Amino acid sequence: KQSPRNGRTAYHFQPAKNWMNDPNGPLYHKGMYHMFFQYNPHGPTFGTGKLSWGHSVSGDLVNWAFLGTALDPTSPFDAEGCWSGSATTLADGRPAILYTGRDASGVQVQNVAFPKNPSDPLLREWRKPPGCNPVVPQPGDVTGNNFRDPTTAWLGRDGLWRFAVAAEVGGVGSTLVYRSKDFVRWERGSAPLHASPDVPVWECPDLFPVAERGAEGLDTSARGGAGVRHVLKLSKAADEDYYVVGRYDDEADTFAPVEGVFDWRRIDHGHLFGAKTFFDARRRRRVLWAWVDETDDGVDKGWRGIQTFPRALWLDADGRQLVQWPVEEIETLRKGRAALAGAVVGAGGLREIAGVDALQADVEVVFEVPESLDDAEELDPEWLQHDPHKLRACAEKKASSPGPRGGVGPFGLVVMASGDMREQTTVFFQVLRHGGTYKVLMCADLTRSSTKEGVHKPFYAGFVDVDVEKDRGISLRTLIDHSVVESFGGGGRTCITARVYPEHVAAGGSSHLYLFNNGAHPVTVSKIEAWELGTASVNVEQDDRADP
Ligand code: FRU
Repeated sequence: KQSPRNGRTAYHFQPAKNWMNDPNGPLYHKGMYHMFFQYNPHGPTFGTGKLSWGHSVSGDLVNWAFLGTALDPTSPFDAEGCWSGSATTLADGRPAILYTGRDASGVQVQNVAFPKNPSDPLLREWRKPPGCNPVVPQPGDVTGNNFRDPTTAWLGRDGLWRFAVAAEVGGVGSTLVYRSKDFVRWERGSAPLHASPDVPVWECPDLFPVAERGAEGLDTSARGGAGVRHVLKLSKAADEDYYVVGRYDDEADTFAPVEGVFDWRRIDHGHLFGAKTFFDARRRRRVLWAWVDETDDGVDKGWRGIQTFPRALWLDADGRQLVQWPVEEIETLRKGRAALAGAVVGAGGLREIAGVDALQADVEVVFEVPESLDDAEELDPEWLQHDPHKLRACAEKKASSPGPRGGVGPFGLVVMASGDMREQTTVFFQVLRHGGTYKVLMCADLTRSSTKEGVHKPFYAGFVDVDVEKDRGISLRTLIDHSVVESFGGGGRTCITARVYPEHVAAGGSSHLYLFNNGAHPVTVSKIEAWELGTASVNVEQDDRADP
């Protein structure tokens, strides 16, 4: 039996107390990983938005030490808040921060900051040169005071730095590019990198190159051209994170999706926002962080908000979608492993994965899709609409419809289940027939996740791009951590992150983990790897150290 952690996670990034939102300026510098984040040092709410940049460092992306705040709203050009931004390593190895300030009148402008002592690996102190900030005042054609969240800068062939920033221009959600020789004097490019007339406000843009083959990451300044594509990621205000794979032209500073505007995909079909990547030069990979807010509105725990476990990401062999996977350093937390080889789970069956603490676990299973898919249910064509909310609603109706199951799946995991099963969260797949072929739906059903009133208990769903006729195994990896369930379907092609607040967990009870199959026929689970994870040292205060 564990002592209740009040929803605090054991290995996800969160400050010891107070409010946190977007990840800012992730950076690898002189052997240390730096993580900055939107932070209210005065309490667990966004408050008036007068935020600071919290700052933590790590040697391994798993254990973190909090260093206090790196930027505070103390200057005329950021007096109402140091908002989101990014870090860039300049040619001489010196890091620089570009961030949005809300000036004394609340107007959004772009600022720079440099470390006081760049040879300090901890980069403890930052200087906001007063003579040149704001480096980019708000342009006259920006509407709605929406001008924020500069990206990591990249170097063009002409020797000029560029960054992109989200801007509402005449009511159109745009991503503008600025260029500079010295990182201080910036000039706006003649055309936006991207503009969507149907979305007025984007936030937190991210533009980065990916290799067409292999999982190795590329420096943000890596040139486009043969073997390289670019990914543009945008966060839709008050909604979700989207990305599209395309080509970036570094002369015109334009970006064109390779497949047309309707191929935007979700970074995650669950609950996360403001994702930002950085190039990890130590391990030559691109790593993504994203904010995962609480969904138990109104509950004051003294803190609010966590980050996803850092994910390595790369371009799938199909060239159209990203693959995301927890960074391998998670393995340093692995303790006990459940002793279960393969299993066959019968129709309507439930099989416990015992022997690991089911509140701190890393589980990977592979379901073998049966040879005959004759039983697969027909996909409702309405599900193919691009509106993710519709997809969720349809899938929910289906999953909760009464009567015996007749299809291929749903099969998956039951996580954070109470002893009496009154509380349970399911993450599962269902194979559906569509035209002459099949589609795999991945869902996370939180409708029974907690008996508590007032917490958000949604149903999340997204398709997994796997060809089940060729590739019979569908993999599911799920990270469970007290109040978060992060799932990676089809090897990381489809992700669903969910916050859950079961009452049995709050009361210090034990949780259970199961395989389940509600399909018409038995399903073979060819791989079951369930690890108990230790508690990382994440921004703990002196008197609250994790077990050694
Ligand atoms: C996204 C966001 C950003 C802004 C920051 C303020 O969550 O609204 O656009 O810079 O948060 O905290």
